[in-house]
Amino acid sequence: MLRSLLIFLSQNRWIKGFTLRFPLARKVARRFVAGETLDDALKVAQQLRSEGLGVALDLLGENVSRPGAAEEATAEYLRMLDRIQAAQVECYVSLKLTQLGLDESEDAALHHLETILEAAASRGIFVRIDMEGSDYTERTMNVFRRARARHDNVGIVIQAYLKRSRGDIEEINGMHGRVRLCKGAYAEPPALAYQARPDVTRNMVELMHELLRNGEHPAIASHDEEVISATLDTVRELGLSPQDFEFQMLYGIRRERQLQLRDLGYQVRIYVPFGSDWYPYFMRRLAERPANLVFFLTALFRG
Ligand code: FDA
Repeated sequence: MLRSLLIFLSQNRWIKGFTLRFPLARKVARRFVAGETLDDALKVAQQLRSEGLGVALDLLGENVSRPGAAEEATAEYLRMLDRIQAAQVECYVSLKLTQLGLDESEDAALHHLETILEAAASRGIFVRIDMEGSDYTERTMNVFRRARARHDNVGIVIQAYLKRSRGDIEEINGMHGRVRLCKGAYAEPPALAYQARPDVTRNMVELMHELLRNGEHPAIASHDEEVISATLDTVRELGLSPQDFEFQMLYGIRRERQLQLRDLGYQVRIYVPFGSDWYPYFMRRLAERPANLVFFLTALFRG
């Protein structure tokens, strides 16, 4: 209930404007967001790399509708690739297709994505397509299918709460595509998605098995101890090496566990979001954990 309300508010322009007016909101958001500029993000990325953690940089932004906004986001990603190369920070980038014009058409999003993929490939950089709400799943899969046919340096995200995800994973495994598996962060109807947490976790564990058996360097993206320990058990059962897959977690969440897994010799990549459009991402993080909301409201009222 609270989760659905916060996810709903994450899409509300009025609340967004209201929240952005509080400097303190920005300060609290910094727990989950590396900063507003690429310089802030590169500083965080450098620090994480020096600690032996991998990095996926994400320029925050989604659902662009203003004419020219998708072109601007593409240009911003191209600048980002140059800066990553110049700073010699080994990392990959994550992006959302609605940033690149998916609301306009699949062709528009594919065109911008391929411009980014070509520039990334020439710098040895991998690009991950984040998965958004279920209105976009099939269109995101379509763009991925077309991009993957021509580019090796592209991967996608699959959400364990969606009932269709097993079929998608089998298809992607068949094309040797790379999947990041996560639970899913949007509010979805019961016809499309498991609603109860134990059902989502059970499906995540089953899909993790499928990916570790038949996937191409899968990423298991979760802070849930049940998922993490089931992954470690499966890795041992299958006799996989730590190089065969990676754990992924979000910047600012379960840092000690990130370091423990690194110390055990596993690859751990941190998803580092940055940019001025942090509001929807921040609200989804509050939705995942009521304790974060209490922390946020206390800080606002104290401020
Ligand atoms: P779950 O939410 O059950 O949490 C398990 C435990 O983790 C909690 O009990 C708590 O201890 C800790 N925890 C989780 N969230 C927390 C928070 N916000 N603050 C503090 N502690 C927290 N989603 C999506 O729809 N599309 C996408 O492309 C991506 N991409 C993505 C990349 C990466 C690297 C990660 C880790 C996650 C995503 N997600 C995502 C988000 C994902 O779908 C999901 O919403 C969150 O990861 C939370 O789910 P968990 O598996 O962590 O478990």
